[in-house]
Amino acid sequence: MKFFLDTANLEEIRQAASFGILDGVTTNPTLAAKEKRPFRDLILEICGIVKDGVVNAEVVSSNYEGMLREAHEVVSWHPNVVAKIPMTPDGVRALSKLSREGVRINVTLVFSPSQALIVAKAGAYFVSPFLGRLDDTSQDGLAVLREIMEIYRAYDFKTQVLAASLRHPLHVVEAAKMGAHIGTMPYKVFEMLFKHPLTDRGLELFASDWEKARATLGEIAEPGGMRKGAH
Ligand code: E4P
Repeated sequence: MKFFLDTANLEEIRQAASFGILDGVTTNPTLAAKEKRPFRDLILEICGIVKDGVVNAEVVSSNYEGMLREAHEVVSWHPNVVAKIPMTPDGVRALSKLSREGVRINVTLVFSPSQALIVAKAGAYFVSPFLGRLDDTSQDGLAVLREIMEIYRAYDFKTQVLAASLRHPLHVVEAAKMGAHIGTMPYKVFEMLFKHPLTDRGLELFASDWEKARATLGEIAEPGGMRKGAH
């Protein structure tokens, strides 16, 4: 499973990238608006941080012509940019045209298997089902994702499933078990994936046991130097 960070915040992206397991970033107009700077500069700076990773930049026009124009514009900024287009009738018209031209499109705001089927038929690069927002309406986001995965496997669609609106580690783990190609998550969820109380407890115990026997054990390595006695 590829990990994307769902943020436009450069500090969060830098932090996540430092672990060497970040494959890309998803932004949307809400996330971009929080950063209070020109959108193009923001996207280019993100591309500089994630290097070979994919950076998703969303169009804001709601009509066919406007979406085509904006999608062409954002992908011209950097080879790693994928244009995000919403799941609307005009969005699907734009998607069909752009995917025939070879432009990589992520279709966003997908909430049902039928929408995901259309998106794949129209040649999207990514489809983004929003799990958390489905859960918010008392619909099971993971169940919708499962149906999408089943349909995509049945027809061997090439569109990659980008599980979005992930709110907690279980969303990520369940999506991974289903084989979702990508999970995009806020930094808070990314951080939570690392944690387990038994890891913290185990580390405390190792440290205190080592400390008690430090005089006998010695140092593993001198700070900034070779092991004592090494040649
Ligand atoms: C994905 O591309 C979206 O930006 C995102 O996952 C939306 O998530 P939210 O429901 O937490 O806003």
